[in-house]
Amino acid sequence: MAMLIPTPDPMIDGLAVHGRAIADRTWTDRTVVVTGASRGIGAEMARRWLALGATVIAHCRHPSLDAELSPPAALQARIGHLADGLHGAEDRLLGFAADAAVPGQMGEAFRQLLASAPGIDAVLFNHGSTTFTADGENILIGPPSSYDGEQMRHLVQINALSVWEALHELGRAWGRDSQTADNARRRRSIVLESSSGALNPNVFDPAPYKTSKAMLLHFVRDLAPELARYRVSINAISPGMIDAGLTHLPCVEAMRPQILKGIPMGRYGDPEELFETVDLFLSGRAAFSTGNNLTLNGGAYVISQ
Ligand SMILES: NC(=O)c1ccc[n+]([C@@H]2O[C@H](COP(=O)([O-])OP(=O)(O)OC[C@H]3O[C@@H](n4cnc5c(N)ncnc54)[C@H](OP(=O)(O)O)[C@@H]3O)[C@@H](O)[C@H]2O)c1
Repeated sequence: MAMLIPTPDPMIDGLAVHGRAIADRTWTDRTVVVTGASRGIGAEMARRWLALGATVIAHCRHPSLDAELSPPAALQARIGHLADGLHGAEDRLLGFAADAAVPGQMGEAFRQLLASAPGIDAVLFNHGSTTFTADGENILIGPPSSYDGEQMRHLVQINALSVWEALHELGRAWGRDSQTADNARRRRSIVLESSSGALNPNVFDPAPYKTSKAMLLHFVRDLAPELARYRVSINAISPGMIDAGLTHLPCVEAMRPQILKGIPMGRYGDPEELFETVDLFLSGRAAFSTGNNLTLNGGAYVISQ
């Protein structure tokens, strides 16, 4: 029987190859912004970066509406749970609120954030919504023409235009920064969370959701060359069914057996698998990649009827 014997590679010395340090994945002294971090996938991602030592700036739609709470306590009530059980993480958890459905609010929040927290290294735009039923408990799924203009406008604002507002502020601030000696060598990265359904004709995702998520793919392609000049990379990730957040809604849970039939791998993706992919871009380990979209969907490129 042949045996594989590990042979020491003279070119590999600890974490250095050819004398150059391999980018390690430590987040100590680095800051990542996560939008839509209050729950679901965003919360899963934010907790992992806190565990890796990052300073996390967590975004939520609005602070707690409890009138008894002071503004900082009201924000803490929405995002404080992200640091639960992680030693020392509460000191590295910051937050801000902005309703992406209100035109201009996300842009203004990022303008203020960039003025008060200049050391941001990475941003994950994860917040997102879909066509919910009136009670907010389920997703309204119908043929494309069943969605009216207001439903389309609402989701385009939340899922795409609010992201553009923030990207506009990031481009301005980081473009200016790149002129200063301190920041000239700094590498930064952005990931937009689209959806595997964005460009696929499937019956499951509502048309306004797919349309707004497809816009993110174009943002990435358009902005990549411009931002590259400022040493900023921007990529999209397009998850299929991930076992967190929206997929835990009762109506989606009810369809799980049917949905699984359309996924060649026969399972949903684990939030950890999604994190590894997002972190590849945001940690700088894939720093030469920009303007790309990476799909994680277990091979389900078309979930058809
Ligand atoms: N789960 C999946 O399988 C899957 C697959 C593909 C893509 N995605 C995408 O991944 C992202 C996260 O999905 P999820 O499953 O974790 O969804 P989720 O559990 O519904 O979480 C959505 C997040 O977005 C925030 N959000 C929604 N509307 C907002 C608004 N108007 N202003 C500001 N924030 C708002 C929510 O904040 P509040 O808590 O304050 O409402 C929440 O933090 C979304 O962009 C989704 O499209 C998910």
